[in-house]
Amino acid sequence: MKQLHGVRKEYTSHELLRSSLPATPVELLNEWFEAARGVNPSEFNAMCLSTVDAEGRPDARMVLAKDVNSMGVSFFTNGDSQKGLQLKAQPFAALTFYWPELERQVRIRGGVAPLSSEENDAYFQSRPRASQMGAWASNQSRPTDGPDDLQAQFESIEKRFAGQEPIQRPPHWGGFRVALGEVEFWQGRPSRLHHRWRFRQVEGQWTVEGLQP
Ligand SMILES: Cc1cc2nc3c(=O)[nH]c(=O)nc-3n(C[C@H](O)[C@H](O)[C@H](O)COP(=O)(O)O)c2cc1C
Repeated sequence: MKQLHGVRKEYTSHELLRSSLPATPVELLNEWFEAARGVNPSEFNAMCLSTVDAEGRPDARMVLAKDVNSMGVSFFTNGDSQKGLQLKAQPFAALTFYWPELERQVRIRGGVAPLSSEENDAYFQSRPRASQMGAWASNQSRPTDGPDDLQAQFESIEKRFAGQEPIQRPPHWGGFRVALGEVEFWQGRPSRLHHRWRFRQVEGQWTVEGLQP
């Protein structure tokens, strides 16, 4: 562990001043998203999704954001997975983005709602065929005896859908949208005096407050 004590970075690349904040968080979110795409085009949309289980204990994992707009941030998954069941029982989540190249973090908290069948179908049909079959083949979050079993499940799905085009969406597979209830932008700064601004909806209006780092 000792070798970790000296590992630290000085953040110097950007600042985030009150005067540069837009009226709504989605504008800055989109701006930061585009900047992140510029420096990491393949995985800038990876985010940590935090949920709580039936005992109120937190759980977290990475997922890919597939849409960002004023209604919230969407991602897709297996609705019968651990996260899917947790979100159905407790429809609130936190999202965390970290873009190290830009020294930026975004935290979002909000209520969660499932996407419509139309939205789910449209996205599912845009996926590569192998990913579509993977969605059928995996009972996500259930135990497995290992890669050979998974491969056998995949091959049986390949046989089942041989010659079929398009592949229908599995009924348990779809998206969730996390509403922009609260959005915090964090910009790393020298001497740990980071810039933090939190947007919150109060009676339908966005308010912003600065937070100590
Ligand atoms: C970079 C990255 C992106 C991921 N994207 C997704 C995703 O979009 N949807 C998903 O269901 N799992 C995704 N995963 C896998 C999840 O982290 C997780 O292992 C899986 O969804 C099972 O989580 P659960 O058991 O908590 O439901 C991703 C993993 C990584 C590392």
